[in-house]
Amino acid sequence: KPLVFSGVQPTGNLHLGNYLGAITKFVALQQSHDCIYCVVDMHAITVWQDPVALTAQIREVTAAFLAAGVDPKRHIVFNQSQVHEHAELAWVFNCVARIGWLNRMTQFKEKAGKDRENASLGLYAYPSLMAADILVYRATHVPVGEDQKQHLELARDIAQKFNNDYAASIAAAGHGEGFFPLPEPLIQGPATRVMSLRDGSKKMSKSDPSDYSRINLSDDADAVAQKVRKAKTDPEPLPSEETGLEKRPEAQNLVGIFAALAERSRADVLAEFGGAQFSSFKASLVDLAVAKLGPIGAEMKRLTADPAYIDSVLADGAERASAIARPNMDAVKDIVGFIRRR
Ligand code: TYM
Repeated sequence: KPLVFSGVQPTGNLHLGNYLGAITKFVALQQSHDCIYCVVDMHAITVWQDPVALTAQIREVTAAFLAAGVDPKRHIVFNQSQVHEHAELAWVFNCVARIGWLNRMTQFKEKAGKDRENASLGLYAYPSLMAADILVYRATHVPVGEDQKQHLELARDIAQKFNNDYAASIAAAGHGEGFFPLPEPLIQGPATRVMSLRDGSKKMSKSDPSDYSRINLSDDADAVAQKVRKAKTDPEPLPSEETGLEKRPEAQNLVGIFAALAERSRADVLAEFGGAQFSSFKASLVDLAVAKLGPIGAEMKRLTADPAYIDSVLADGAERASAIARPNMDAVKDIVGFIRRR
């Protein structure tokens, strides 16, 4: 049976890339699938986080899910550290994954920077924990932005190697073909890789030092308007067809953002704005962005003002997540040959 899982790190500055690349997909998939959405606080601390800020950011990401339309009653919303099976399975996966596989992870190279010797061991093992997040539920579909594709491929490799390494034990326990499904990334639509508003060759990111590079979900209408107006563009008017966006990364980015916010195709947007100057296109983009993001920001503010409510949503979600994770983790222990307390 298909099951959706995805996660977002509570590391501050939730932005338009997170919203269009991931959170809007979370909302849409609820109609057709059972979904589990996780605030991955254990991933967050692979880079040091101020504890007080971390607590607030866990609640803020939860509020963003709810404000965008995730239904925590019909689906599951929780924070990772409340379900200890994630960490348990991650250890088993650390013993399945090969060092060579992790050495190829481009996100580790980017985040560790030049001083790789000084990066945390957790940052290195990050993709193994991510595989555990997904597979502890035996989830089959994972909506993410383009930047997570390599991590998803690693999760598939880990699932495959576990199934192979323990094939006899898995069959003996009556699980048939393989214990873990190979999870499929869902990376679709015009905004799978939203770029910086200041530089069309860099992705929009929580950690960019310039706040003008991104639109935060918490930005008010004035901030959104200023950032869009200041967004880098080239001097040509908009093309009327998609081929005209080639080698124009800033134009491509703004058109992709518009299309995703309007739930239209790029081609459709260009059919309307082809030949227009950026100044008029940007004015329409501001109106659209404010109309879509304004209510979400306001609802996030309302929700975060009541931390007890958010915490109760997370506790309820964690309980229901555990009910799925626990029997799966028990099965893994049996497959590996551990003795369990019964
Ligand atoms: P994180 O917290 O960096 O980002 C959350 C989601 O937002 C997407 N995203 C973007 N999409 C389009 N354009 C962008 N500029 C952009 N920036 C971020 C990300 O692709 C992601 O979908 N490793 C994950 C968190 C994670 C996870 C998981 C995801 C942990 N365990 C299990 C899926 C399944 C991460 O750091 O996302």
